[in-house]
Amino acid sequence: MTIKAVLKMGDPRLLQRSLEVEPIDVQRLAPLLEDMWDTMAAEKGAGLAAPQIGVMQRIVIFGCATNPRYPEAPDIPETVLINPVIEVLDETLEDGWEGCLSVPGMRGLVPRYQRIRYRGFDQFGKPIDRDVCGFHARVVQHECDHLDGVLYPQRIRDMRQFGFIDTLTENDILSRQPCDDDG
Ligand code: NI
Repeated sequence: MTIKAVLKMGDPRLLQRSLEVEPIDVQRLAPLLEDMWDTMAAEKGAGLAAPQIGVMQRIVIFGCATNPRYPEAPDIPETVLINPVIEVLDETLEDGWEGCLSVPGMRGLVPRYQRIRYRGFDQFGKPIDRDVCGFHARVVQHECDHLDGVLYPQRIRDMRQFGFIDTLTENDILSRQPCDDDG
């Protein structure tokens, strides 16, 4: 297993658009996907996009198990999503606190679509087609943004709602999250 270094905000690669994966290449992705899962686990993230480890391809992984402290929060199945396409099913925007492994130690309040459909294919080349809402929808939107070179601070509407986790927590501003939400 290889834990890769996660690129941090300021690295121009995080601002680039990643390239589509050719179907023929899917079978060659196994070592990359293994590195991505290892890196995400080591960093305790809920998701990771390939460009975050410097691989400019349209691949994201995400997933988190229910945390016993927040039993009401739904599981997000561990998913490899290649060449994702998002369709907005509900234009309603919902604010939620987000973090990112590329912006360590910080959280910001980010609006995301409440309900989306996402499609793409998995590590076996099998199609994925899901209709999701809430935290699951948020994680997917955050990860897919990475593929277009967008980091969550660019989506914050009120920059006063952006700060260091420690300080936000001390001041009781950070709402609790169902699982580690860095991606
Ligand atoms: Ni992220």
